[in-house]
Amino acid sequence: MQYRSLGSSSLQLSVLSFGSWITFGTRLDQRGTNECLACAFDHGINFFDSAEVYLGGEAERMLGRGIESLGWSRDSYCISSKVLFGTADNHSTANPSRPTQQGLSRKHITEACNQALQRFGVDYLDFYLCHRPEPGMSTAEIAWTMNTLIQQGKVLHWGTSEWPAEDILRLIEFCQQNCLIPPQLEQPQYNLFHRKRVEREYQPLIHEHGLGLTTWSPLASGVLAGRYDEGIAVDSRLATEGFSWLEDFVFENKRDERIEAAKRIKTIADELGATRAQLALAWAIKNEAVTSVLIGASSVAQLQENLGALDVLPKLENAVLRKIDENFR
Ligand SMILES: NC(=O)c1ccc[n+]([C@@H]2O[C@H](COP(=O)([O-])OP(=O)(O)OC[C@H]3O[C@@H](n4cnc5c(N)ncnc54)[C@H](OP(=O)(O)O)[C@@H]3O)[C@@H](O)[C@H]2O)c1
Repeated sequence: MQYRSLGSSSLQLSVLSFGSWITFGTRLDQRGTNECLACAFDHGINFFDSAEVYLGGEAERMLGRGIESLGWSRDSYCISSKVLFGTADNHSTANPSRPTQQGLSRKHITEACNQALQRFGVDYLDFYLCHRPEPGMSTAEIAWTMNTLIQQGKVLHWGTSEWPAEDILRLIEFCQQNCLIPPQLEQPQYNLFHRKRVEREYQPLIHEHGLGLTTWSPLASGVLAGRYDEGIAVDSRLATEGFSWLEDFVFENKRDERIEAAKRIKTIADELGATRAQLALAWAIKNEAVTSVLIGASSVAQLQENLGALDVLPKLENAVLRKIDENFR
């Protein structure tokens, strides 16, 4: 495993990290979760991501149970939670969250943090992120609340996920003016279909303010691994019950174009003796502004394959990167 500093912090995160979105509790039961966690940890992964909204908090519970049964020492791994959506399924109208059970108010940020700690069964979160910006949110309220949670020892680092750069900058400047601990990380999508935010929009934040990035969906939910070359298989993520909205989200009305691009990189992967999943992951790690690439896996076999991306990394010379680029213009 390789490790990188989280932006300007000296905290060392593994360049590959493991997330719980959709997989935990749907594609993986507790036993499968534990097996994947053990495999990830044994290969040096030290960061595990979750959020209050993932399966209504159940993903956090499963991650916590897995860590407990594997007996990891608390100083050997990092975990994250994300706040905003509450624990209700926001794609369903059944049992919606009440107004105080979601959002970025002091009340919900504080309650959601306490609830995440309980679900994980830990004393503190390494990372606590505002899952998306919220219309009408208060920079001061968010920054002071996060600072208080840090002072209380419940959170070590805080940050954002998919926030416009200008909103993150406003948070950083407010924290500087008020001697508060600033946001340290952002969690954006980053893959061969989604590059602009990481490669352009966040550049000043990374270089001038030491923002770290833990990026998500490096395989575009499996599209880049070739999972959807022949359509949507019944055992795939896009066929998972309750996630019918995901197909539109992943393809963004460019289904054929994306599947064709994913097919074309197979030739490059073959030339490197790699799989497409390994190539797409190595490509994401290659960007040194990225602290850690969050991967998802539905089996130990997928996880083991994905860990092989580290062997592909040294093979990504400029000529190879140019060839990859040509397929994703
Ligand atoms: N901050 C945010 O808003 C946000 C949003 C999304 C995700 N995340 C985090 O980022 C993590 C990773 O995102 P992601 O799960 O979308 O990552 P991803 O790597 O793009 O997708 C993972 C899925 O791709 C398929 N896959 C993985 N390895 C494969 C392989 N070797 N061959 C073929 N298919 C493979 C599996 O789907 P099948 O089940 O179909 O096999 C797997 O569940 C999440 O778990 C979550 O923690 C954060």
